[in-house]
Amino acid sequence: MISSKSNNGINGTPIIPGDKSISHRSIIIPSISNGICEIDNLLNSDDVNHTVKAFKDMGVKIEKFQNKTIIYGKGLNSLKKPEHEIYLGNSGTSARLLLGLLSSQNFNAVLSGDKSLSSRPMERITNPLKEMQAEFDTNNGILPIKILGKKLSGTEIEIKIPSAQIKSGLLLASLNAYGTTIIKENRITRNHTEIMLKSFDADINIKKVDNKSKIIVNGQKELKSKNISVPSDLSSSSFFIVACLINKNSKINLEKININSTRNGILIALKKMGANILYKNKRKINNEEICDMEIKSSNLNGCILEESMADLMIDEYPILAVAAAFASSPSIFKGLGELKVKESNRLELIEKNLTKCGVKCEVKRNDLYIYPSNNYQIKDENIETDFDHRIAMAFSVMGSIIGPLKINDAESINTSFPNFINIFNKHGGNLY
Ligand code: S3P
Repeated sequence: MISSKSNNGINGTPIIPGDKSISHRSIIIPSISNGICEIDNLLNSDDVNHTVKAFKDMGVKIEKFQNKTIIYGKGLNSLKKPEHEIYLGNSGTSARLLLGLLSSQNFNAVLSGDKSLSSRPMERITNPLKEMQAEFDTNNGILPIKILGKKLSGTEIEIKIPSAQIKSGLLLASLNAYGTTIIKENRITRNHTEIMLKSFDADINIKKVDNKSKIIVNGQKELKSKNISVPSDLSSSSFFIVACLINKNSKINLEKININSTRNGILIALKKMGANILYKNKRKINNEEICDMEIKSSNLNGCILEESMADLMIDEYPILAVAAAFASSPSIFKGLGELKVKESNRLELIEKNLTKCGVKCEVKRNDLYIYPSNNYQIKDENIETDFDHRIAMAFSVMGSIIGPLKINDAESINTSFPNFINIFNKHGGNLY
């Protein structure tokens, strides 16, 4: 795919699809609850569709009508052993959450994934699950992994790596475990699982002191289903937000965007850089905070972000790096080690591709330094994405200013935002 310069800026009201993290949880939690759940605005993307297929393969009735998805849940122990291995494509969230959930079911199952997912670390979730007596068969801690499902025992577990996927896998395992599970986390991670479990009547209590929390779950309590309205995805909207900020003569409105405070780092960072972003009509749906926004072209300045910011915006560094390339002063983003084990080695690809675009930047240890200029000479138009959707979308936005750039393997965008190309073009982008 080629991304060329935008002619008249980025304008209008782009429709941002449903939140990916909340969509996965909207399939998983109602599938093990009692009752019918009608979901509005579920993300229809490859990653979420892999989760849907997994639960259909485990006997859950799931129907789709227009923009609604209906899940007929039959309780904590109603899943059936799948006849084949469960293939999860590129979806790390499906893998980590299902490793947890299925480790406390009474059947065996095998999880597998594509080349990228099969190289991502899974011991970060299987090791803490083993503290609850879970059992797995795996070579080197990567997929494919056979889960030897059994009743687990609640225990106290401290999470070493800040990760909502690890926390959520443990939470899902604890729902069906004997006794009480206490999960301790020392840094903030997105809390969509806890919010949804609470509203589905799980026996869950959260104690917070500063950035640390202790989540206490009493197992074997049946869950009660509820309808869910999925808000629009802040991570997906960030490509439009930055495109609007860095292109002249731009103004967009966004609607129903999730601004959960465990997840809103990109907005804090961009505001710190001088972004003109106005929040409107703050409200809650399903206990998730949402709002509408108005964004206008802005003169950005660089900024220094400490490691703690990475917890609140781990998926947004590729697009934040693009924003920083158009700021009036350098930026330093610290503590980005986790970016190396995402859908690609994002830290390496950000540095490599910005350099191809003529941007001076460097990675020192796990910190990213960006030194912007106001006149870029493209050195190599071939953007390498390693099939990573967020790298592809971030450099599509880069192309809207300095293009043409050739974005390789752009079909990966279907992972999280299948309509991105059409919507970006409708609002002033130039992708073909
Ligand atoms: C996600 C958590 C994050 C994020 C991923 C989605 C989730 O991963 O990168 O895109 O839905 O829980 P980690 O929690 O492992 O950092």
